[in-house]
Amino acid sequence: MNQRKMQLSTVLRLGVTVTLLALVVQAQNPACKCRTHYQGKCDSSGGSPDCQCTISIGSNTQSVNCTKPIPKCWLMKKESLGTKGGRRQKPKTALIDNDGLYDPDCEINGVFKARQCNNTETCWCVNSAGVRRTDKGDKNWKCPELVRTNWIIIEMKRNNTDSVSEDAIKQGIKNLFMNRYGLAEKYISDIEFDGDYIDINLKQNGSQKSPDDVDITDVGYYFEKDVKGDPIFNSDEKFDMQVNGKSFAVKEPLIYYLDEKPHEISMKHLTPGIIAVIVVVVLAIVAGIAVLIFTRRKRGKYEKAEMKELNEMQTQSI
Ligand SMILES: *[C@@H]1O[C@H](CO)[C@@H](O)[C@H](O)[C@H]1NC(C)=O
Ligand SMILES: *[C@@H]1O[C@H](CO)[C@@H](O)[C@H](O)[C@H]1NC(C)=O
Ligand SMILES: *[C@@H]1O[C@H](CO)[C@@H](O)[C@H](O)[C@H]1NC(C)=O
Ligand SMILES: *[C@@H]1O[C@H](CO)[C@@H](O)[C@H](O)[C@H]1NC(C)=O
Repeated sequence: MNQRKMQLSTVLRLGVTVTLLALVVQAQNPACKCRTHYQGKCDSSGGSPDCQCTISIGSNTQSVNCTKPIPKCWLMKKESLGTKGGRRQKPKTALIDNDGLYDPDCEINGVFKARQCNNTETCWCVNSAGVRRTDKGDKNWKCPELVRTNWIIIEMKRNNTDSVSEDAIKQGIKNLFMNRYGLAEKYISDIEFDGDYIDINLKQNGSQKSPDDVDITDVGYYFEKDVKGDPIFNSDEKFDMQVNGKSFAVKEPLIYYLDEKPHEISMKHLTPGIIAVIVVVVLAIVAGIAVLIFTRRKRGKYEKAEMKELNEMQTQSI
């Protein structure tokens, strides 16, 4: 009698536990969430084993692959159309990209359209990073092709005084770019040091990049947001660059975009002092630029110098 009661209660308890467990698993399939966007929505129901994710862009719903960085064009579009409530407040230290955030036209796969227009009155051409590379014109402005940004330089400053070797920092950066942003190691071409400054060179030309590879410009965008404390990632995915098992703090990211073809901005329109210095540089003079950036910095006024230097250099080289 007693034994039967005990058996019964054990079976009951087991049953309840199993049911609860099943409910929990069903309610939150932990693998199915949007890793790469804090506002992404994912769903693994509907019978398919896949985790289907979407983000809202204005009033549209765009399906995205949340296992890798979402194309910058969609992110910019989302941000420019975003409601005030949707977006967290911009941190004080953050800078806004180049000419200001605009509402870009994206191809069906999230790549920037070569021609971008502002209220259909003003048009200009951009590179694959969405950065303007020509003067602005009227709505008849022509952009025959999307020119690829095949090299980006991410410059940032250390915000720590840890004594760690350059090799350890390099390894920490590589691990971050590979694990967090999914960038293949072969595209991290070089990491350079100069005092407190660190320059990460990412190179990826069109023939190297397979459709599955993440694009260096998307990686740059995510990284910039991470360093500025305004991450795009799901809030579970804290930004933490580890060097020798410790967090390695950096600040003041600055990104330079280098295109496969020379830009076509006429000199008189290249104004110095644009807040985020976004430089689309003639490839042939890149070596010269790099030297200038590095030597300038030693004199302690790196940030706004480059635009002017670039002006002068291009005037000379033309
Ligand atoms: C687009 O237009 C807005 C306002 O009309 C302006 O603030 C912004 O600078 C323009 N962007 C470009 C790239 O012309
Ligand atoms: C692309 O990159 C590879 C590897 O760096 C290089 O061998 C190749 O020449 C590059 N192609 C072009 C068109 O620049
Ligand atoms: C997302 O991208 C990864 C890497 O390219 C790919 O393996 C995976 O199948 C994609 N997932 C979906 C749902 O498209
Ligand atoms: C740099 O580090 C200091 C001290 O840890 C901290 O107070 C400050 O907020 C950091 N600055 C940035 C931009 O992260």
